[in-house]
Amino acid sequence: MDAIDVIRAKRDGAQLTPEQIRWVIGAYTDGRVPDEQMSALLMAVFFNGMAGEELAVWTQAMIDSGERKDLSSLGRPTADKHSTGGVGDKITLPLAPLVAACGVAVPQLSGRGLGHTGGTLDKLESIPGWRADVHEGAYLAQLRDVGAVICAAGSDLAPADKLLYALRDVTGTVESIPLIASSIMSKKIAEGADALVLDVKTGSGAFMKSADDARTLARTMVGLGEAAGVRTVALVTAMDRPLGRAAGNAVEVAESVEVLAGGGPADVVELTLALAREMLAGAGRSDVDPADALRDGRAMDVWRRMIAAQGGDPDAPLPRPAETHVVTAPAGGTLTRLDAYALGVAAWRLGAGRARKEDPVSAAAGITWTAGVGERVTAGQPLLALRTDDAARIPRALEALEGAIGVDTDDRPLPLVLERIT
Ligand code: URA
Repeated sequence: MDAIDVIRAKRDGAQLTPEQIRWVIGAYTDGRVPDEQMSALLMAVFFNGMAGEELAVWTQAMIDSGERKDLSSLGRPTADKHSTGGVGDKITLPLAPLVAACGVAVPQLSGRGLGHTGGTLDKLESIPGWRADVHEGAYLAQLRDVGAVICAAGSDLAPADKLLYALRDVTGTVESIPLIASSIMSKKIAEGADALVLDVKTGSGAFMKSADDARTLARTMVGLGEAAGVRTVALVTAMDRPLGRAAGNAVEVAESVEVLAGGGPADVVELTLALAREMLAGAGRSDVDPADALRDGRAMDVWRRMIAAQGGDPDAPLPRPAETHVVTAPAGGTLTRLDAYALGVAAWRLGAGRARKEDPVSAAAGITWTAGVGERVTAGQPLLALRTDDAARIPRALEALEGAIGVDTDDRPLPLVLERIT
């Protein structure tokens, strides 16, 4: 087989054959097809898309570049969740222990933040002692004993995706629905869970700015999951405003612990419970109400054991910032806009996120806010608290927030869950 023939076929709008797809993904993963040829092929896919079966074979080839985990030895149903990423999206933190407390094991391989969206591992690393790396034996033992593990993916999980994603990042080919869908689903299917729930975000702080694109991505991913034998459901949810009352690292852990203690912001609780119900239903346990496990402390017990199993101290004080700068409400009325993208960029500039994969993040940096969209504010009330280790970062964070806050009496906020796609 020759890479040039595969590139020409896709460039000219043909559907690639299963043999061509398996060959090109395999040959790229083991270095026989160079980056320049794969870049050309990715650009051809970017412009010409992929048909349904073509994408299913492409995704399967990415899964087959590594190992698909077998969790059947756990002897209990398993369910996983993936969010396409947003600002203040800490839902995995309360969700994984909550679902585990309901009898369904949660193998959650998570990532780090890049740009304005946060990463689950960065957030958890603000807990003193907590480690993201869990080796294979300890991973299965923790799933068996505690029921939930949130950790970094090993190198055997869809290695083709690691290479392709890095190449897409530098060739302007990230924003392609088939390439995003195959990237996410190859990793999620390889994780080996019985059921998968996708939280596809839409709005300024999301990858998919328009609801139509989010819906198409959700349908494409649900189709790939079902074709691979994983019961998959997607919720399309709002990311025009950030979730909860905190964006950053330690501040999001603190908010998650509030939710596990039975409190926390209403939108975080609502989305955590909606996703938990979907995960339990997918795993065949729709008879269990996750609200009970939040109320009676079982989810909090699993959280504490899950953190301790990875070396963390669930009682240790979380890092605090050296500097806090308060932004007040510009007028009195209803808060109609708190722009997710602007807050994400500001939190990133305060030190909560990274521009390059190898950059460190600050555990204490981030933003908290006292009112959410739809709530009443009075002129001059403290609205945002900008938290950072380095006061010199504050002016650029404030620049990102220009125009981010809207107060008036008309606009109606979008509901949090916009659509359910099966
Ligand atoms: N997240 C992924 O894992 N892959 C993409 O392509 C985009 C977001």
